[in-house]
Amino acid sequence: DKGPWPHFMRKEIEEQPESLARLLGALVDPAAGSLKPILPGIDFASADRIVLIACGTAHYACLLASYWIEEIARLPVEVDIASEYRYRNRPLTGREIVIAVSQSGETADTLSALKALAGRVAARVAVVNVATSSIAREADAILDILAGPEIGVASTKAYSGQAMGLLAIALKAARDRGMLSDDRLGEILADLVSVPRIVAETLCGSDDIERLARRLSPARDMFFLGRGVNHPMALEAALKMKEISYIHAEAYPAGELKHGPIALIDTGTPVVVFENVDDLNEKTASNVAEVAARGADVVRIGPSGACDLVTPAAGPVGSLFANAVVAQLLSYFVALEKGTDVDQPRNLAKSVTVE
Ligand code: F6R
Repeated sequence: DKGPWPHFMRKEIEEQPESLARLLGALVDPAAGSLKPILPGIDFASADRIVLIACGTAHYACLLASYWIEEIARLPVEVDIASEYRYRNRPLTGREIVIAVSQSGETADTLSALKALAGRVAARVAVVNVATSSIAREADAILDILAGPEIGVASTKAYSGQAMGLLAIALKAARDRGMLSDDRLGEILADLVSVPRIVAETLCGSDDIERLARRLSPARDMFFLGRGVNHPMALEAALKMKEISYIHAEAYPAGELKHGPIALIDTGTPVVVFENVDDLNEKTASNVAEVAARGADVVRIGPSGACDLVTPAAGPVGSLFANAVVAQLLSYFVALEKGTDVDQPRNLAKSVTVE
């Protein structure tokens, strides 16, 4: 049932304040200002690193998480695409905690990578949206992202749920390792708890995003840029755009364009920039000036009043979720403009059960 919406994808984008509030309720006790006891039986204190494995959008959620885990828990992280991890023969110490992330819990590449690690690592955790799935059953512990059924082929509410779930795991890892002061925990929790509200406010700006989509939809190629966590965000935005609008889209760390890809920038090429809440923006601004000088159609997205699309005032976490909503709605409206099949893009299946 799509409710009042014309597509499952739109319905699932709009459901995020609700799905994220539900997940938040399972992760955080706001009255006590504390994290709930997630992943019982998993102790990050004796782990020597975290290995994150997934495919597609879930892989981009893992890349986001790698920044958070390293920064908050000070634990080394490896992120790999499941189909690559499975065959690359990385050295193991046996003290790794492996986290497989999968909406469906049935993705064959992720499942087989997880199975191949049985007995060779300290623990295997599954972050899934289907608690009875094959990946959930294979793992030693699960975190259910509680997003509810996702029907649209393009992952939206599962992506934001994965990001939130993985941030909570970063906090748990930090606490297990004694790396988290009460002040720092309070600061991050305040930011995290704001997410459903920030997402709802961002959704209220859908008219502006639709106008932007009309401007960008004739493009043949598009670029997405970001620094820090906004680099994985840019990768996810480019994937969404490719998947449902069939526009060729690439994502780069903002500082990387000048090392080659800037040759592709032509007059009118859209370059969408996800800005950070922190001081990284100064560097990004000079990268943006470089592409603007080549005639790019630059679109800056972020909470600063100077942006072309201003997202709600938020902390670094809230701002990232606002960017996710903008990326989802932007690709959705571009696809509508182009008349593609939003819920069932060509060549794609919701769950990929072959390796
Ligand atoms: C993109 C998308 C895919 C999935 C990928 C993994 O919008 O939906 O890239 O993220 O196929 O699927 P799960 O998460 O079910 O393992």
